Amino acid sequence: MIEFDGVSKWYGAVRVLRNISAKVEKGETIVLCGPSGSGKSTLARTVNRLEPIQEGTIKIDGTDIHAKSMNVNALRTGIGFVFQQFNLFPHLSVVDNVMLPLQRIRQQSRKEALPTALLMLERVGLADKANALPADISGGQSQRVAIARSLILKPQVLILDEPTSALDPEMVGEVLKLLRELSSEGITMMCVTHEMGFAREVSDRIWFLRNGELTFEAKPDLFFSSNTHPDVRGFLSSIH
Ligand SMILES: Nc1ncnc2c1ncn2[C@@H]1O[C@H](COP(=O)(O)OP(=O)(O)O)[C@@H](O)[C@H]1O
Ligand SMILES: [Mg+2]
Repeated sequence: MIEFDGVSKWYGAVRVLRNISAKVEKGETIVLCGPSGSGKSTLARTVNRLEPIQEGTIKIDGTDIHAKSMNVNALRTGIGFVFQQFNLFPHLSVVDNVMLPLQRIRQQSRKEALPTALLMLERVGLADKANALPADISGGQSQRVAIARSLILKPQVLILDEPTSALDPEMVGEVLKLLRELSSEGITMMCVTHEMGFAREVSDRIWFLRNGELTFEAKPDLFFSSNTHPDVRGFLSSIH
């Protein structure tokens, strides 16, 4: 589904991605982890061309997405992206935030978009908050709204960059529960997270980045075992 081949990226003279080659199969949930500054966000952002790359290729379903001929808007329509900060529009109600992509990209009227948006809110357990403003719901609810918005165009791929890092601890669980459900429903997911419990229980494979390099990739059993990569062992003990 997603194929990285020899991907490198520099910011000026600083190389932040080093020759990354890896594949995400259709329906897989990949957790991306590694120390701060290791390139996780940068790698995630290359998948919808929020970041250009200087070497290598990234293919989605066989299409080279960094090719000049690629239609960036069409690409982004097929990829949901969820950030640490929810980026909801404060002056729009919850349901209006969720339906925005239908209006902007599918050119639907509010009336046309409303039933789909309400269904999506139901899916994330927030039908009763449809008319609330973002300021009147919790952080965990806000992130679920952001996830609903990211899914409204039915993307094949969902990318999440530390979706629970900005949340108070008691709200992390509700977001992870939703992600677990989405994962089991078969969406292809790449999630940057330090939530190792989620990585262990939900991910199909875990990618470990260090200094821009994909130094280790394993299924959770191996990743969390004593036979894991020494760098991973150091990382795991540092975050516990
Ligand atoms: N816009 C930028 N300009 C220059 N350097 C950047 C920029 N964004 C990130 N970096 C650098 O790229 C490296 C990887 O950053 P990032 O992908 O954000 O890491 P992570 O998400 O793993 O913490 C870091 O060294 C960071 O300082
Ligand atoms: Mg980051």
